[in-house]
Amino acid sequence: MEFLNIVTPRLNIRHLKLKDLTDFHIYRSNPEVVKYQGFDVFTLEQAKHFIQDNTAKHFGNAGEWVQYGIEYIETSQLIGDCAIKLDQNDTRIAEIGITISHLNQKKGYAKEVLIGILRFLFETKKIHRVFARVDTENTASVNLLKSIGFRLEGHFIENIFFNGKWGSEFQYAMLRREWNSRA
Ligand SMILES: CC(C)(COP(=O)(O)OP(=O)(O)OC[C@H]1O[C@@H](n2cnc3c(N)ncnc32)[C@H](O)[C@@H]1OP(=O)(O)O)[C@@H](O)C(=O)NCCC(=O)NCCS
Repeated sequence: MEFLNIVTPRLNIRHLKLKDLTDFHIYRSNPEVVKYQGFDVFTLEQAKHFIQDNTAKHFGNAGEWVQYGIEYIETSQLIGDCAIKLDQNDTRIAEIGITISHLNQKKGYAKEVLIGILRFLFETKKIHRVFARVDTENTASVNLLKSIGFRLEGHFIENIFFNGKWGSEFQYAMLRREWNSRA
């Protein structure tokens, strides 16, 4: 069983804890934050269950999303969360996702987190390929992935039904060799 803990210059990526509940609920109950995600806004009770469910999950299980907290080291406050899923059929492939609280966006935190995660997946875990799916209207996420060097590899048209309508998604990916040759 592996307890993930990735430290970046300003942030600590670690398992979600019940002490995160208030901070977690503040942004997970904001419709703007969850607009492009598979989750709906959380009530406080749902947020609590979500954190509790995640305490039983650990890195390494094929096909299982594990959600991690992003803690701002200086204040120990939760400023967002991120998730990693190893592919159901091949654990050398990983899918990632990230959410930063509306109170802390546009400060370079998401980029710092993804670089920390990619370093862990590619360099420590020797993962072959990392990918992310984003709503085509989610400009912030698209720019985030592009800014790190993810390569656009797919455009799915009306492939997902959520919030009462069909949505379209981009798929971005990076291979270990692309990470290694990144400037
Ligand atoms: C997408 C998200 C994680 C970005 O977090 P963030 O901490 O604000 O991003 P950063 O400050 O690290 O910015 C990373 C890059 O994306 C760009 N970016 C971030 N927010 C942007 C926005 N609203 N519009 C356009 N570009 C944006 C930045 O300019 C930066 O690019 P640069 O390095 O070339 O300047 C955040 O907006 C979020 O949590 N959104 C809601 C949740 C979501 O939709 N998650 C994606 C589903 S997987």
